Amino acid sequence: MKEEKFNPALRFQWLTGFYDRLISLTFPEKKIKQQLINLVDPKGNERLLDFGVGTGTLSIMLKQQYPEMRVWGVDVDDRILSIAYEKVQHKVELQHYDGKNLPFPDDKFDVVVSSLVFHHIPTNMKAKILKEIFRVLKPGGRLLIADFGKPRTQYTKIAFAIFRRFDGEEQTRANAKGMLPYFIMSAGFSVVEEGEHINTAFGTISYIKAVKAASIEK
Ligand SMILES: C[S@@+](CC[C@H](N)C(=O)[O-])C[C@H]1O[C@@H](n2cnc3c(N)ncnc32)[C@H](O)[C@@H]1O
Repeated sequence: MKEEKFNPALRFQWLTGFYDRLISLTFPEKKIKQQLINLVDPKGNERLLDFGVGTGTLSIMLKQQYPEMRVWGVDVDDRILSIAYEKVQHKVELQHYDGKNLPFPDDKFDVVVSSLVFHHIPTNMKAKILKEIFRVLKPGGRLLIADFGKPRTQYTKIAFAIFRRFDGEEQTRANAKGMLPYFIMSAGFSVVEEGEHINTAFGTISYIKAVKAASIEK
């Protein structure tokens, strides 16, 4: 079967093995992930999907803070998943997917989280993928995203413009314009809020919280 094209964690697949070290040296990684985890606020043993799980760091932190939650992770990159398998030690159920159809039935998850993934997804795929996330969330389920948003300072505006040249101008354009909430709304989510943000050396990280209405017509 033909492998789908995707944008690896550090642009080139040969850099994937260095992802954890590079991101922890250059980015307030733990702070960004912790703020996202705090938004989860689980009610008992809910099911959570880490979309674009990468090397599994966010999933591990989630299991440490909320051991009662059941956590799944998906990613399009087999190479990064093999790093995650070593790290999560069966505490998280990891799955590869084709970048189009999530390998889960409708209404499976209470929460979907995603950190630093949507700026890797081409503009014409963002809405399709969000519709897939909408499908696998239960009515009343939450989508929580931390990713690059519209830069909030003059410095982050320049920094993100430079970063985009490395990470890809096309797939980061909607993030730079602060368009992610509109894509989320167009996928069917009813409540979409952009809350906190963190300014980093590469741009502004925005937090988005969206809800699938508790009762929807199919
Ligand atoms: C910068 S890494 C972030 C990984 C992890 N979420 C984190 O915060 O450390 C971006 C991740 O998005 C994944 N990715 C790229 N395109 C994707 C897609 N279409 N669907 C799901 N994941 C994708 C990459 O394989 C990579 O693991």
